Amino acid sequence: MNVEKIRGDFPILDEGIIYMDSAATSLTPEPVVASIQSYYRCYNANVERGVHRLSQVASQLYEEAHIKVADFIKAKEEEIIFTKNTTEGINLVASGLGWNREDKIITSILEHHSNLMPWLRIKRKFGVKLEIVKPKNGVLRPEDIEKVVDDRTKLVALTHVSNVLGLITPIKEIAKVCKENNALFLVDGAQSVPHIPVDVKELGCDFLAFSGHKMLGPTGTGILFMRMPLLESVEPLTIGGGTIDDVSPEEYKLKENYERFEAGTPNIAGGIALGSAVEYLENIGMKDIRKHEEKLTKKFVLGLEEIENVEILHQYLDQRIGVISFNVEGLNSHDVALMLDDFSNIMVRSGYHCCMPLMKELGVKGAVRVSLYLYNTEDEVETLLGIVEDIARSSV
Ligand code: ALA
Repeated sequence: MNVEKIRGDFPILDEGIIYMDSAATSLTPEPVVASIQSYYRCYNANVERGVHRLSQVASQLYEEAHIKVADFIKAKEEEIIFTKNTTEGINLVASGLGWNREDKIITSILEHHSNLMPWLRIKRKFGVKLEIVKPKNGVLRPEDIEKVVDDRTKLVALTHVSNVLGLITPIKEIAKVCKENNALFLVDGAQSVPHIPVDVKELGCDFLAFSGHKMLGPTGTGILFMRMPLLESVEPLTIGGGTIDDVSPEEYKLKENYERFEAGTPNIAGGIALGSAVEYLENIGMKDIRKHEEKLTKKFVLGLEEIENVEILHQYLDQRIGVISFNVEGLNSHDVALMLDDFSNIMVRSGYHCCMPLMKELGVKGAVRVSLYLYNTEDEVETLLGIVEDIARSSV
């Protein structure tokens, strides 16, 4: 993998910025920007609503984007719903499944607020039982799900990768537990799909929600994979233009593919550009991207472990991605993030990371989070380690 060549596609890096906040949103390469421009400049038209030339081109490219995303995670085209982000995908499932007070939902303390609050709301509205599972050494284990799953369990909703600890959940094994107990399985793939090769058939989940903007696509793009037979039993969040096969003054019949969930004019340029982002990642190769990130992550975590007065929220483990959270003794995480920006142009996230329950469980009031991607380099990791060491030394 030629990182220098890849970096040439991200002009923002020419400014000397060290971007290590890709878990929040990734940078956007030139071919993706070009794809947005080309929609507005060359074939700006609505999709699936016109027979004229421009509408035909836009519709075809918008459909092709669904196919590219489907191929990327080994799903079928009709199973790929474009949303605006992971959060919307999870909310769509929460509001679309029918609930009653006999139902049970299982989730975990590791979850981003977006994979907890929708379930808390279902609990509040319908009185369902909500079970919160805790990880062992940062990782959720199939046996812990097995202990709480029962024939009341309608849904298990877990993250594939924690956006704070970066550790990978054994989804395949947990999917088996869910299947044995007839429970639906939703996976929050916001932090996994951009970084590790994902095959939904292999994973065995029923729903996979993820975000386009964390995988080189534009903001306002997200994806919800919904296993095919389920499509018809989940009520769409919104209905209207573009979702129907037939409407009369008395009744309507929804389409039988993803279009039933994409009401109104969608984010056409965004969707097409998301297709370009997927193409970009595939041309490089997800396996190579993963390998590159593993190398940087190991270097960073092992280096960080050597620095006095630094507490890492989780030690190095193989089954992880390049998301690493830590604190410097005596300093607030926001102050550390500001220093990294001021002193070395390094961009990281700090604070609660939309994971207040996890932070409370870990007994910390926030953390500095470094998140790496394909455009980061070993030199950048060394610069970061050097500056963290300086900050840690002067903090005591
Ligand atoms: N979910 C994003 C993050 O963890 C915003 O930073």
